[in-house]
Amino acid sequence: MSIQKESKRVTVPLIIRMKEQGEPIAMLTAYDTLMAEILDQSGIDIILVGDSGGMVMAGHENTLSVGMSEMLHYVKSVRRGVNRALLVVDMPFLSYQISVEDAVRNAGRFLQEGGAEAVKLEGGKPIIPVVERLVQLGIPVMGHLGLTPQSIHQFGGYGVRGRDAEIAAQLKEDALLLEKAGAFSMVLEKIPADLAREISEQLRIPTIGIGAGKYCDGQVLVSHDMLGLYEKFKPKFVRRYAELGKLMLEAFIQYVHDVKQKDFPSENESY
Ligand code: KIV
Repeated sequence: MSIQKESKRVTVPLIIRMKEQGEPIAMLTAYDTLMAEILDQSGIDIILVGDSGGMVMAGHENTLSVGMSEMLHYVKSVRRGVNRALLVVDMPFLSYQISVEDAVRNAGRFLQEGGAEAVKLEGGKPIIPVVERLVQLGIPVMGHLGLTPQSIHQFGGYGVRGRDAEIAAQLKEDALLLEKAGAFSMVLEKIPADLAREISEQLRIPTIGIGAGKYCDGQVLVSHDMLGLYEKFKPKFVRRYAELGKLMLEAFIQYVHDVKQKDFPSENESY
């Protein structure tokens, strides 16, 4: 395992070239400076400030209650920790659905005030005019298809999308429309691996999968899930690389014990 201290900044054209060259793209989420600094040293290609931040950082039930000011706070914090990876931010619910004008203003704020380098939007056909306009204005767009969490009430939950032929066909069409509109990549969330393969093969731009199998051009997870910090959801697609939640609990219990036993602080820890 290597720590990536100095190397070239990751850019939007580089992400597209990685697909052309068959190099898998690694993406993870961050919402604060400390996590972003550690992630940036790992050689990660893209850091996503996901609206999942509202759930893992602020205890929201789902991503629908996350707004612009919360996302701006997360992206500004992450920007201060990132030197190398491409920084992408989720546009929250209602920040791009009402009008193209609103979407431009909000996406622009993420680049201008937040220091993001691209925005991510959920959905297909209905948001194509927004994607086209943002791209025309020089704002790079990452799409997001499949299980789009901002639509969970419509879907009735967090189940796999695209198992039936009609939805699968719609997803393939939406992917082509997003590419045509100028998106530089797209997340495919919780769809069958074979469908993700078909979509990935029909596109020139990279797909980044989460619960979408091994044929995507890249993979993304929520960092707090893969670190074992978020216990509310344990979907089968999450590989746990650490059990930090358990380690933290043990450390906190030990601290409480040491304070109660007057074992902390020691002479060495005093002035
Ligand atoms: O909000 C988020 O973290 C995301 C990822 C799951 C792709 O959109």
